[in-house]
Order: sequence, then structure tokens, then C-alpha cells
Amino acid sequence: MTVEQIPSHPVPQRLLDASKCPKPHVSSIEQYKAMWQESVDDPEKFFGNLAKELLSWSKPFDTVKHGSFENGDIAWFMGGELNASYNCVDRHAMKNPDKVAIIHEGDEPDQVRKITYGELLRDVSKMANVLKSRGVRKGDNVAIYMPMIPEAIVAILACTRIGAPHSVVFAGFSAESLRDRVVDCSARVVITSDEGRRGGKNIATKRIVDDALGKGQANQVESVIVFKRTGTPVPWVEDRDVWWHDEMAKARSVCAPEPMNAEDPLFLLYTSGSTGTPKGILHTTGGYLLGAATTVKYIFDVHPNDVYACMADIGWVTGHSYIVYGPLTLGATTVLFESTPTYPNPSRFWDLIQKHKITQFYTAPTAIRALRRLGDQWLDGYDLSSLRILGSVGEPINPEAWNWYNEKVGKNQCAIVDTYWQTETGSIIVSPLPGAIATKAGSATLPFFGVKPMILDPTTGKEITEPDVTGVLAISQPWPSMARTVYNNHTRFLDTYLNPYPGFYFTGDGASRDADGYLWVRGRVDDVINVSGHRLSTAEIESALVNHETVAEAAVVGGNDDLTGQCIHAFVSLKPHVEAGEGLEKELTLQVRKIIGPFATPKRVYLISDHPKTRSGKIMRRILRKIVNGEQDSLGDISTLADPSIVEQLIQKVHGDN
Ligand code: PRX
Repeated sequence: MTVEQIPSHPVPQRLLDASKCPKPHVSSIEQYKAMWQESVDDPEKFFGNLAKELLSWSKPFDTVKHGSFENGDIAWFMGGELNASYNCVDRHAMKNPDKVAIIHEGDEPDQVRKITYGELLRDVSKMANVLKSRGVRKGDNVAIYMPMIPEAIVAILACTRIGAPHSVVFAGFSAESLRDRVVDCSARVVITSDEGRRGGKNIATKRIVDDALGKGQANQVESVIVFKRTGTPVPWVEDRDVWWHDEMAKARSVCAPEPMNAEDPLFLLYTSGSTGTPKGILHTTGGYLLGAATTVKYIFDVHPNDVYACMADIGWVTGHSYIVYGPLTLGATTVLFESTPTYPNPSRFWDLIQKHKITQFYTAPTAIRALRRLGDQWLDGYDLSSLRILGSVGEPINPEAWNWYNEKVGKNQCAIVDTYWQTETGSIIVSPLPGAIATKAGSATLPFFGVKPMILDPTTGKEITEPDVTGVLAISQPWPSMARTVYNNHTRFLDTYLNPYPGFYFTGDGASRDADGYLWVRGRVDDVINVSGHRLSTAEIESALVNHETVAEAAVVGGNDDLTGQCIHAFVSLKPHVEAGEGLEKELTLQVRKIIGPFATPKRVYLISDHPKTRSGKIMRRILRKIVNGEQDSLGDISTLADPSIVEQLIQKVHGDN
């Protein structure tokens, strides 16, 4: 089906019926258009008002917006002071201490914990005092490597309370990846747990931390604070490791929040780029918090009695903005889910929704595709009528998955919000508003407030105005929650995002716009692949492979995959005189898992005699990409290759046994 043939779904009538649902914050397309226009024409007024409405400031800001893409000096709300943990916890605890802040659904469905705003304030304050007692001061970076438990949120907010930027590392990363990230941000304190629980299995979290910290510069770490999740005995490093519960028992439950400048760093989050080393994306306090809160208010249309659930992991940006900062800034109830969509069976999500009467549910296309494939019977008998909004994030959603989500989960009564954004954008930048914008399966539709997207010709950098022509997606003016820099490497920030198309923020994604102005994001145009919504750098995987003693050269490309969106294909040539012993492919697969983490497992590893190279020795990844995607009939001109005959061998290797 072409874009023009995909039907438009109007806003579900039920959402606009005051007897059935709370009135949406934006309830017509005209209202959206007027607000969007003001947000881009007069951002000072628009965001100045929102920042006063949604955030509490200990000192008011002097200017709303400062800087430009040309100068790479973006700042918002300068002169203002605020504290993120105060905004997420104290002010709600004072007004409404018994309101549930976090519903934790543990790995087993009967393990449910509810934490009120009053309890959260006590725990966050205690943990903040624990961090101080371990020597953490304003401006010191703290690493967090934790499973999906409420203490992870407590740890995050405790850092923000004392002005210590946190660097959460996804607990699926290997010891080596964790070490790189701890070293890069010079963290002297790491917060972790003895083990994690996921899908009925124990995960050796503390052991991975020990492996990460044992060597080299990671020795800088002075304290490891360990939460007891399973109680399994774990190795202990005297003088470095302390138990969470012992320290909490000693700590005072009052800790004044540190007033932070709006532009003080709030957190670092490492993400993969085109080159081998991950980038520490830096977000600051005022603008980021406003972006997270504003998008939860308008895109998830949160109202006081809602139970809002985002299924992402707190180790990724979606967890930061849409489990922690956005919902808690608004004083909402947020669900934290420790398990997987299929444990103990594929009804788990529907059971979760029914049990907690969830109103907004946010997950990734990969999960939707996997559940669709397992069959509709897993939805039978579940009452999902509490739902109003169903969100999708992380990768393009194919119309089949979108329609299934809409019909089977939403019963055609919910708004589907396909939300497009990135670690660097801090919060959603393109999405429908549930009460205002008609949807089309596969399109993230229209820009959010303050965001002015443009489609540019990749070679000339000129704006493409004709509909349905794919170019690169760029944003033409700053918005509050955008990243400010790459930690310790502003040049890399400028070179990656602001210099490629001067005057624009470059997303790295390809996109087109249809005749209705709807945006269709096509996927990355750089060497980044997206596997199940996880962003991976091909260069990082290649360097993990080349690290193996047998490997001479490696080239990694993304293949299309019905379930995971993309998958990893690795082409490896061996060093001279190395024999490809039995099981070497498996060993190389394990090598990637060990160096990066299990989520980066290659789907196929091909041992080849050589890569397709230009005469100057550059690997033509484009050819490999076409071959793995079955496009070997349209390889184009291969006569410029140093050895064109290699192509036939590669086709045989990939498709020979089919
Ligand atoms: O390629 C886009 C894809 O995910 C990338 C950002 O990845 P990350 O920083 O890990 O953040 C993921 C969660 C926001 C983007 O450059 N992407 C994200 N959302 C969508 C998407 N692609 C298409 N449609 C989306 N809704």
C-alpha cells in the first residue's frame, strides 16, 4: 500500500464525549494548529507561560530562549533556578501525600508494590543523604546500573536532589560497556542491585558491576551501593561496597533540594552514533523537564485519576522521560514493569492493563509485532476498557502492527499515538495529539509544540517541499528539551547534529511529508541500526568483532526483519593462516554479546574470504546491505570494485542454501 492509500482515522468519538472520558487538553485540530503556530512564532511567550504553569521555580528565569544552532549555544530559562526532584516529588507530596506515585508490577504478577508520593519523598531524601555521606557533591556524576525496580527511580531522583547528574546504564549492557561509560563520566559512585529478575530468571547485576570495575581506570569508583533484590549471596569488596538498606537505615529522611540553574546538567545518557565510541548525551534541568512534562500532558493527555504505563526500560531515554520525569513532574501515577510481555504467558500486558485499570499504555512496535504473531486468543476475556491512549515508540511501526494495536487492543476506541523522537531530542517531537489529530497507520503525523521540522535534500541541504519525496529530517529552530552537548566533547555534538546542515538540527533519519503535511519517518540514514527499538552503531559491533583474535576485518549491516524491524548481519574475514574452526561463527556471536550485551546479538555471522571493496580499499557496505535484503538484482555498478567477482561469492554465502 502506498502512503496515499493509507486511510486516515478520525479522533475516536469516545475521547470527545465528556460522559465517557475527561476532556482532552487539546480537543480540535484548529486548537492544535493555533497552539503550534504560536509555539514556533513566539516561543518566548508560549514556553515562558508553560514553564510557569507546569514547573515550580525557586528563582524565576530572566530569559526564556537563548542561543542558536549556528553557535551551538542553546539555553532556555536562563537565570531561573529549580530542582527536578522537588518538581517530581515534594510539591505533590505536600499537596497529596497519599496519592500513588509508582505502581511496581514485579516479575511475578502477584508482586505488586504501590509507593505514594509521601513515601517517595522520604526514600528519595534518605538516598540523597546516603549519596552525600559517600562523598557525592553537586556536579559529581553518579552511575546507575539497576533493574526495573522502584529503587532505580529513587536513585535517579536522589541524584537530582543534590545536583549530581546521573548516568543510567541499561542493565542489559555488558561489563565492558558499563566500564566504558563509568570511565567516560568519571563516576566515583555506582548504584546497583545484587541481582535482577526478568522473565523468571535471575540476572547477575552485581557480578557484572564487579567485572566492570575491577580493571583499569574504573578503579576510580570508591563506593558501590547495592540494593538487595533477590537475596542471592554476591561477592563483596570491603571498603567499596555497601548495602542500600544499611545506609538507608542510618540516613536522615530530610534533605533540602539543591537549587539548580536551569542550564545545570540533569543527566547523561550514552547513545550509539556512527563511530565506535558511545556519546554521553547531556540534558539540562529546566528545558528537559519542561519537554518531558509538556509531552506527557498533551500527547498522553494525562488527567488526575489516570494510571499511566510506559513499558520501556529506565536504561533508555524513553524510561527517563516517560516513566520517571514526565509523569512524576505532573504528579501522575506511573507504572514500572519489571517483567517481559510474554512472562508467564503472552497475556501479561493485558493482565497488567486490566488489573491496574491503565489509561495510557506506551510500548514499542517490536512488542506489538511479537504479540500479534502469538495470536489474538491471548487477549480473550480481558477488560481493556480503561484504555484511552495507546503509544508506540522507538522505530517505524508497520501498518499491520498499527492496525492490530488499534483494533485488538484499542477496540477502535482509543487514540494511537506513534511518537517520534530520540535520546538527543529529550522528549517527543512528532506525534498525534489524541483529541485533535487524525491518525494514519505508520505516520507520526504532525510536529509537537516548538518543533519546526523540514525535509532536506541530503546533498544540497535545500528544503524539499514536494510531497512524498524522501529526504533527511531536520529541525529548523531550537526547542527546550534538546540535548545541549556531548559530555566532554562539544565538537562532536556540533559535528554530528548542527554542522551537517548549518542552521538546522540534523536527526540522522530519513523522512517524507505527504500532501496533508504528515511526516513519515523511514529510519536512519547513518550507520546506526535499530533492532527491536534498540539503537546500535554498526561501528561498535564491528570493533567488538575485530577484537577477536581470529578476525581481520568486519562489516556490519542492517537487514530487514519482520519481528525486530532490523537485524544484524556481520561479514567477517579472518586473519591470514587462521583456519575457520568449527563453531567460530557462534564464538564471534558470543564475542559481540560479551563486549556490548545480549541485545546486540548478530542474527547471522558470515565468514568470507574478502569484503567488496573499492580500489582504495573502502568496504562498500551498500552492496552488503542490498544482498542481505534480497536486492541482489539491483546492486548497481559494481565494476568499480577492486574484485567484482567477490559479489557472486557473497550472494552464494547469504542466499546459497535457500
Ligand atoms: O530512527 C529513529 C527511531 O529511533 C531513533 C532514536 O533512537 P533512541 O535515541 O534510542 O530513542 C528511542 C526512543 C525515542 C530515531 O532516530 N525512532 C524513534 N521513534 C520512532 C523512530 N522511527 C520511526 N518512528 C518512530 N515513532
